[in-house]
Amino acid sequence: MAKANMNFNMERLPKELQSAFRKLYPDQTSEQRTEYLSVNEIHHGDAFDLLPHIEPNSIALSVWSPPYYVGKEYEAYLTFESWQSLLKNIIELHYPIVKPGGFLVVNIADILVFKDLSMPRVQADVVHRKRSSITRDDVLKAQAEHPEYNRYQLAKLLNCSEQTIDRRLNGNNIRGGKSEPQTRVKIVGGMVEQWGIDAGFYPYDRRVWVKDAAWENSRWANLSYRAVDEFEYLYFFWKPGITKYDRNRLTRDEWKNWGSRAVWTFPSVRVNDDHEAKFPVELPLRTIRLLTDPDEIILDCFMGSGTTAIAAIREKRQFIGIEIEEHYVTLSRQKVTLEANR
Ligand SMILES: C[S@@+](CC[C@H](N)C(=O)[O-])C[C@H]1O[C@@H](n2cnc3c(N)ncnc32)[C@H](O)[C@@H]1O
Repeated sequence: MAKANMNFNMERLPKELQSAFRKLYPDQTSEQRTEYLSVNEIHHGDAFDLLPHIEPNSIALSVWSPPYYVGKEYEAYLTFESWQSLLKNIIELHYPIVKPGGFLVVNIADILVFKDLSMPRVQADVVHRKRSSITRDDVLKAQAEHPEYNRYQLAKLLNCSEQTIDRRLNGNNIRGGKSEPQTRVKIVGGMVEQWGIDAGFYPYDRRVWVKDAAWENSRWANLSYRAVDEFEYLYFFWKPGITKYDRNRLTRDEWKNWGSRAVWTFPSVRVNDDHEAKFPVELPLRTIRLLTDPDEIILDCFMGSGTTAIAAIREKRQFIGIEIEEHYVTLSRQKVTLEANR
């Protein structure tokens, strides 16, 4: 069948259209390309624009941690909808560039404080926070005696705050505040699985990284029965093809301690002084050692401070990095140079 001619510049189309057109014209986009993104470099730009410039079937492992949609500065440009389409599109763009038998590993966490305006606006009755001894019966009695009083007048009469009157009558704090009304957990695993499958990958494995318990981030921890934030997921996707299985990649102890284990426990980065959300080098290092051989190419299209590139250099692999924020590109390039000169 004759191929349709694509006599327009696809990269000037809106992103949603680009993704649809890439499915229709996959061969033409790669045929037209003679130059690919160079290896062992951090490239500045949007992953969506740059992934199609990576050589097809060249990536042994792509391992990254995307924006989690938890209100970080670098994800301020995203709505929940655009965050979902960013991840869906990025996963889809991986399929042509991962080599057959290779892997995509997504490190992500559930969204613990997810706004859901359909949620009933009722909050916990936090017993240890109650300061006033005024009971609901006291308020009802005062109301019966002074039916014309509004809540400010009732508060004055009972010598308490008008919020106390409100809480005793309505059973909750309708103003919101620290405990974030109408928020719930958003479990992301199902979405990530579906995006992987839609792209052509097969979910291959999932592991849990147990990190430091983030008490300081858990505003809800002493106002509800929710647990603190202390683990993340690693979802492994496989592109059909021959996968080399080599027991010698790890020592016997490494297989026993983490290679064959679903739960990985290692500390978070001690200080996020130069980047808001770094993962520790141990995370890409383990996936690189488990799933690839020396000299193979490792990709991280959300490169941040350069952690995956550092792990790749330590393990004598090649890497390609992509990062949208210029200052993180500068930072990661500096770190790569330091690591390479070690
Ligand atoms: C969770 S952080 C990754 C941190 C990294 N793993 C590290 O250890 O430093 C996500 C990174 O993705 C970058 N980013 C966000 N949107 C992007 C996009 N569309 N293309 C490329 N990078 C993007 C952010 O600037 C941020 O540095």
